[in-house]
Amino acid sequence: MQQSKDVFLIMGSTRMGRNCPAITSWVAEIGKGCTDLSYEIIDLCNWHLPMDDEDGLPALRTPYRREHTRAWSGKVASAAAVVFVTPQYNWGYPAVLKNSLDHLYHEWRDKPTAIVTYGGHGGTRCAKQLRQVAASLKMSVVSTSPTITLSDAVIRENAPFIPDREFLQYKPKIQSALRELADKVHGREHPAKRLLGEARRLLSAF
Ligand SMILES: Cc1cc2nc3c(=O)[nH]c(=O)nc-3n(C[C@H](O)[C@H](O)[C@H](O)COP(=O)(O)O)c2cc1C
Repeated sequence: MQQSKDVFLIMGSTRMGRNCPAITSWVAEIGKGCTDLSYEIIDLCNWHLPMDDEDGLPALRTPYRREHTRAWSGKVASAAAVVFVTPQYNWGYPAVLKNSLDHLYHEWRDKPTAIVTYGGHGGTRCAKQLRQVAASLKMSVVSTSPTITLSDAVIRENAPFIPDREFLQYKPKIQSALRELADKVHGREHPAKRLLGEARRLLSAF
């Protein structure tokens, strides 16, 4: 059976009036232009995963009781790779994203992963937190972590923006991250780089 080459871009924000869809669509377009993978945007608004409604521990492979957890499990398992596109909220990443991660466990393992963050200072703190959680889930995260700085006007006044104009400076780094991701998907990673990634993954757990 041919393996799926679909990259899921998981949006970290479900907030009303969010900027996430515009930024995520732009990241998807960049991916289509620089890799041979296909991209699907996952909106967690469409994946209703109530907190604490499963009694088992996903890491122990307790069968999921809820249909929505089984559906989410199947969806994540079918991804060739994931890209988290997420804002920083109070130095962390949104609870809805953590909840979507914690509903599963084995489905995330070894998943080639990229992290793209945005915020008033690019969301570097939330990228660090997310990288640490991804390490605990044994995800295979690319080393390049693009961070997009939003202007005060966008954050405070909800000013409209055109990513391909205002965020152009971030495009090369996003391309690098997505090319690294494609290399992981296709098993083209240099062995030394793979070892380095593994070492980083272990170190980020401390
Ligand atoms: C609850 C909340 C907390 C925030 N905390 C931070 C923060 O810690 N650092 C930062 O740079 N921006 C912060 N911001 C600004 C967001 O980065 C900005 O509003 C961004 O557009 C949020 O993404 P969204 O519109 O897709 O939800 C925060 C915004 C919200 C709503």
